[in-house]
Amino acid sequence: MDTPDTPDTPDPREPLSAELHRLRSLTSIKWTMHGHEVLPAWVADMDLPPAPVIVDAVQRLAARGDFGYNFDAARQLPGAFAAWQERRHGWRPDTGRLRLFCDVMQAVQTALWLATEPGDGVVIFTPVYPPFLSSVSSTGRRIVDCPLDPDAGWRLDPDRLASAIDERTRVVLLCSPHNPTGRIFTPDELAAVAELAERHDLVVISDEIWGDLAHPGASFRPFASLGPVAAARTFTVGAASKAFNVAGLRCAVAHVGDERIEAGLAALPDHLLGAVGSPGAEATLAAWTQGEAWLEATREHLAAQRNHLASRLSDELPEVGFALPEATYLAWLDPRPYGLGDDPARWLLEHARVALSSGPDFGLHGAGYARLNFATSREILDEILDRVVAAIASR
Ligand SMILES: Cc1ncc(COP(=O)(O)O)c(C=O)c1O
Repeated sequence: MDTPDTPDTPDPREPLSAELHRLRSLTSIKWTMHGHEVLPAWVADMDLPPAPVIVDAVQRLAARGDFGYNFDAARQLPGAFAAWQERRHGWRPDTGRLRLFCDVMQAVQTALWLATEPGDGVVIFTPVYPPFLSSVSSTGRRIVDCPLDPDAGWRLDPDRLASAIDERTRVVLLCSPHNPTGRIFTPDELAAVAELAERHDLVVISDEIWGDLAHPGASFRPFASLGPVAAARTFTVGAASKAFNVAGLRCAVAHVGDERIEAGLAALPDHLLGAVGSPGAEATLAAWTQGEAWLEATREHLAAQRNHLASRLSDELPEVGFALPEATYLAWLDPRPYGLGDDPARWLLEHARVALSSGPDFGLHGAGYARLNFATSREILDEILDRVVAAIASR
């Protein structure tokens, strides 16, 4: 009988580091989608173990067998979110306008659904997180594509935005900081969006899930903090899931600045959106009340990983286009000079045994690109890069 190649019985053909061994024991999609011969750097989960304060919070629930109806942590989340936003980003949201959701995309899609009618236009800044595209099309709304400018470091071009908006455009769907480019939009870029939103009476849905992962030297500004006028037409969504690596626990908080969405939410059937589970609420509460030191150490590690990636690319694959991300642990790579085709991630999976995210999934302007997740150990990032460099050299 074949011995299964499980993490508990390491494959003797390959010396596994303890870290790789641990990661291969995870049941998350990042580590189970492909075989053990592939190193995953695709979906936006980190390989770092979560903060001990979060593990403790969830373990305490489990140790007590405390799985009954439990809204205790959820009740504390609006206050914790407001205090966290104020301390980290200088924005004090009104707790009376905060609402919990089971995840960020549920909140985004709900706001989109309530703010628009079928056929209405929704501005997105491409390339962009693929569920933004599917959220607009699956709700029967219309994508108003406003590409970011690759030749200006992925800047948001206000003139391009002004000419993209038509008379049936109702929403600007902002990903801020931006996935996949890692851009933090400047106050000027955000102000231009706010000014156009005001002029055309648009709702701004601002997905700020990456807001806590700005790199040193960059500072993130919530859209609603531009001022009361902008806040009054904005629906902001935040979560601990990216910065604290707890995406599987499903919990998000939204600030409902826009009255139309507030009224739409109030009119929904009362149980339609469900409620956050207690592990997700406990984890998020622990993150925002006790997680700051862990987050600081994690941001340092991510910045070092980003800089290491940039230096290896410039030494070993100098033709790869890459603008240093100001936030996130994502690198949006343009390897077109190496001729890897429209979907370099597919080529790299086959030839380098590394799994990146496919550029074409990020919209029309994603062809030729791939997204690499560098939130892992230095050892694994180096192994990923060794494989990519070797595959490209021998193509
Ligand atoms: C911009 C953005 N929004 C939303 C999500 C997903 O959040 P959730 O799983 O809470 O829906 C991600 C995940 O990577 C993301 O990058």
